[in-house]
Amino acid sequence: MSLPASTENVPSSLLHVNFCGISFQNPLILASGILGTSGALLKKAASSGLGGVTTKSVGPRPRYGYLNPSVIEIGPGTCLNAVGLANPGIMEFVSEIPAAKASGVPIIMSVFGSSGEEYKRVAMAAQDAGVDAIEMNISCPHAKVSSIGASAKLTHDTVSTVKNSVKIPIFVKLNPNVTNLIEIGMAAEDGGADAVVAINTIRGMAIDIHARKPILFNQSGGVSGKSIKPMAVKAVFDLYKALSIPVIGCGGIFSAEDVVEFMLAGASAVQLGTVFMHGWEIVDSIKHGLIAYCNQYSIPSIGKIIGKAHEEVV
Ligand SMILES: Cc1cc2nc3c(=O)[nH]c(=O)nc-3n(C[C@H](O)[C@H](O)[C@H](O)COP(=O)(O)O)c2cc1C
Repeated sequence: MSLPASTENVPSSLLHVNFCGISFQNPLILASGILGTSGALLKKAASSGLGGVTTKSVGPRPRYGYLNPSVIEIGPGTCLNAVGLANPGIMEFVSEIPAAKASGVPIIMSVFGSSGEEYKRVAMAAQDAGVDAIEMNISCPHAKVSSIGASAKLTHDTVSTVKNSVKIPIFVKLNPNVTNLIEIGMAAEDGGADAVVAINTIRGMAIDIHARKPILFNQSGGVSGKSIKPMAVKAVFDLYKALSIPVIGCGGIFSAEDVVEFMLAGASAVQLGTVFMHGWEIVDSIKHGLIAYCNQYSIPSIGKIIGKAHEEVV
């Protein structure tokens, strides 16, 4: 793709996407857990040019998470983490929202709990603090919340408890470590989810061959980054086909080409995480690449490509 030198003469509508009643300047959203631990950091992330930002997952009470090593790079652009949902608790975290909102981009608050009632309590406090959407993390592979995302019934019931209590859109972040992801996605939709996010990290482990023991303090964790992209694209493709709510793609996105691939599979927007270990400059380069792609194929708005890969499938 040849990159345009600047985005100055590009109509602002070209990269604009709109779903669940929320307007995003572009389809690139900060994924949960990637530096979104304070209002200042969320604002810094937004200033890189992202279309939206997601907070670190926040629960009902403070949680220290696991000891180090908690994040390791296991290959080029591929990480293994078990942070253990470290967070200050919702009562403390709500004070970070005004600073995040000053960025001007939509703020998505990732929430978790150990029961529907706890999710509801955290989601209601997040709504009161003025966030634009709730993302229910039912999928962290190294914490108990993954058991919710592994059961269609628990997913349905937990989502519907939250849906009945808040007015803002609810995104449900799916657990890829299941036998039938579509069944869980459908349960989330039936429970009232306004969108699903696919995927969270994939369960994994690395062993230090000299110490002869697992490297992570928690022993096992979740794999993110380049290695999980094909699994994430397949999840988005299948969910787009099965559901009627928007799908937000996530997993191994490092370039404009990756974003286009996810959108062709059916993603209305994408979330980026591991790529930011290389800094925030990548956002500008991805946006330039998306503009170049639109220009190359005379696409008037990036949203026009959503799900287009399905039309070729017979
Ligand atoms: C260090 C680290 C911490 C994460 N913390 C969270 C979290 O708190 N909540 C959540 O839903 N996902 C969390 N994730 C998962 C990411 O949001 C994302 O789903 C995953 O990393 C795949 O995207 P990527 O390949 O672009 O990183 C975390 C990922 C990493 C690498």
